[in-house]
Amino acid sequence: MASDASHGRPPLDLALREALDERERAGLRRQLRPVQARDGTVVTLGGRKVVNVASNDYLGLSTHPALAEAAARAARDWGAGSGASRLICGSHAPHQDLEESIASWQQTPAALAFASGFAAASGTIPALVGPGDLVLLDRLSHACCIDAAKASGATWRPFHHNDPDHLQRLLQQADSSHPAARATRRRRVLVVTEAVFSMDGDAAALEDIIEVKDRHGAWLLLDEAHATGLHGPRGAGLAEARGLGPRVEVHLGTLGKAVGASGGFIAGSRTLVDWLVNAARSFVFSTAPAPAAAAAATEGIRIIQSNEGEALRQQAWRNIRDLASRFPIPCPDPQGAILPWILGDEDRAMQAAQLLLDAGFLAPAIRYPTVPRRAARIRLTMSAAHSPGQVHQLADALACVASGPFTPTP
Ligand SMILES: Cc1ncc(COP(=O)(O)O)c(C=O)c1O
Repeated sequence: MASDASHGRPPLDLALREALDERERAGLRRQLRPVQARDGTVVTLGGRKVVNVASNDYLGLSTHPALAEAAARAARDWGAGSGASRLICGSHAPHQDLEESIASWQQTPAALAFASGFAAASGTIPALVGPGDLVLLDRLSHACCIDAAKASGATWRPFHHNDPDHLQRLLQQADSSHPAARATRRRRVLVVTEAVFSMDGDAAALEDIIEVKDRHGAWLLLDEAHATGLHGPRGAGLAEARGLGPRVEVHLGTLGKAVGASGGFIAGSRTLVDWLVNAARSFVFSTAPAPAAAAAATEGIRIIQSNEGEALRQQAWRNIRDLASRFPIPCPDPQGAILPWILGDEDRAMQAAQLLLDAGFLAPAIRYPTVPRRAARIRLTMSAAHSPGQVHQLADALACVASGPFTPTP
């Protein structure tokens, strides 16, 4: 009876089991790894203490007592949850304070907080472009921007990684191939790039990209997820570091990496923010972030801009450069906290991750679809919270793994 009603379709679990098995065979299956305890950079996995060298907590703020205290105070004063979207039951002080501090930090007229950086991208891009428009993204852009571009209904095209000339060619093609669209309604073009690339660690050729998009009247969304905290005199990101902030229309950031809390933001003009309050579906139709998360993020942003933040930034960069100088393969001058060790083959990356774990370091293999197929890697990140001893021990462990039974692809 049940099989008659199934129309020959497999039961859910059977279909998913087959898909999981396929990933297993391809060396691409992912599994959660329970962590029993955490003390700074040291985590307990399966009863064993290992050093986390894969986190995005670049300044170590996620365990800073001032953030924990701000979160606890906000939970006491405002409750554990926000209760509804901010458009439904009011915009509570922790969210208002957070947005004021983001705008002042990013030196923009306004800012809007989201539940995550992913939600900021998925709400914002479809609110800015739609069918008939064009999104040009760096080929290595994060999944949140790619998915948002697809969901927007706009035409989307990747440009070669960090290649302003290719971007320029795509913009020229768009201008020459759509005269009708230009005549009827000015076709919107949104350019998207990361400031520091999440899996490769290199920094965007920001000045050139801005020159190109300005020449074509395009808008730029700059994803500063891995640059905030580390770049710029006040840790506001790469745009601040290069003095280009006012030329970026849409600044996207996360509050879950160097800021040490959770959430995401868009910073830009007051009109942009007013529009997103109306049109960004992940803002309109989603419960506001927990007050504790907002208050912790406000405190994280305060510290990032303080003398203490500057000292943490300097310590993080010392650790990054120290590890880069001891890397097992030639390592270009680091442009952020991410140092990728590209191994290519998925199984080799898994093996290397296991050997590092055996040596006391947590740095999982990063595989497709996070990076292209056969570009698997160990993505190492250094933070202000690592001690020089941990950095040196990691370098020794990497050298030992690299001289093991496999050789990394150049
Ligand atoms: C480049 C980039 N953008 C956006 C995000 C999303 O931020 P969040 O983790 O706050 O959702 C990430 C997170 O991994 C990221 O790496």
